[in-house]
Amino acid sequence: MRFPDYRPRRLRQHPAFRRMVRETRLTVDDLVLPLFATHGKGVREPIPSMPGQYRLSTDHLVKTAKEARDLGIPALLLFGIPKKKDALGTEAYAEHGIVQKAVRAVRDKVPEMALITDVCLCQYTDHGHCGILDGRVIDNDASLELLAKTALSHVRAGAHMVAPSDMMDGRVAEIRDTLDEAGFSHIPIMSYAAKYCSAYYGPFREAADSAPKFGDRKTYQMDAANALEAVREVTLDVEEGADIIMVKPALAYLDVICRVREEIDLPVAAYNVSGEYAMIQAAHQLGVLDGRKVMMETLTAIKRAGADILLTYFAMDAARALQG
Ligand code: PBG
Ligand code: ZN
Repeated sequence: MRFPDYRPRRLRQHPAFRRMVRETRLTVDDLVLPLFATHGKGVREPIPSMPGQYRLSTDHLVKTAKEARDLGIPALLLFGIPKKKDALGTEAYAEHGIVQKAVRAVRDKVPEMALITDVCLCQYTDHGHCGILDGRVIDNDASLELLAKTALSHVRAGAHMVAPSDMMDGRVAEIRDTLDEAGFSHIPIMSYAAKYCSAYYGPFREAADSAPKFGDRKTYQMDAANALEAVREVTLDVEEGADIIMVKPALAYLDVICRVREEIDLPVAAYNVSGEYAMIQAAHQLGVLDGRKVMMETLTAIKRAGADILLTYFAMDAARALQG
């Protein structure tokens, strides 16, 4: 059927029709809010590169978690800013490390909130790389044990799910084995499976003070030019025991989300990263676009591409917008 018999505009005339034929529906259930935990008390330090985001001491983290819960957001993704960094990223797996502390506090005060922890070493190492070093080289296999140790210590503190973001080969299997052996076979892993080496992480690295002190992350994060490799990476993580697989960043990689969605029958998450957030906030502040509308359009697009779960710094704003 074609014009003039078929007129696509017919179903766009009435707002009710538009609602009825809408293919993608963003809901608060889709949203995960990333938060930055920091030591101290009464700290709510604005992150200049990410307007509207803060480094939060545990008391403020609990407050924010309550607000998120009241808005209906199901889960948080926790990052930590440690007191001190060293070559082996010791605070990442310390019993009283920042993430462990944050998890205990929020789990105690806001038990309804699901707590996902980012598992990586880059915030905790003095060199800023996601694994440990052998000279100037990132030592894949030596990093695995520490990453698994980190995941286990998060879970011991009460994390409901762990999310390894380091991109070392074999880390999902190592974490799965370690958790299983310690009696945590029920804890799911959301793997940052197709994580690209991206300049869109710039604002995050300022927020978490996690930029590499030398070199870059090109030897472990993926090349932006590759999509077939994303399917390979994701398949490997599924074989190693991942329960949810993530594509990151989201916006410049919608094709990758779409492809992974078609290939894999596990839930797919997409990370609407710091740079994507910062661009919209900056453009809104400059008055060149309506940030709220662009936010909703963007999140809807990521879901339309095939993501089931959206990790986004916009989670609170989007949840409020969805309430009308
Ligand atoms: C740690 C990590 C990063 C992000 C999530 N986990 C930074 C990086 O890999 O350099 C990026 C998040 C964002 O930009 O919002 N490995
Ligand atoms: Zn890292």
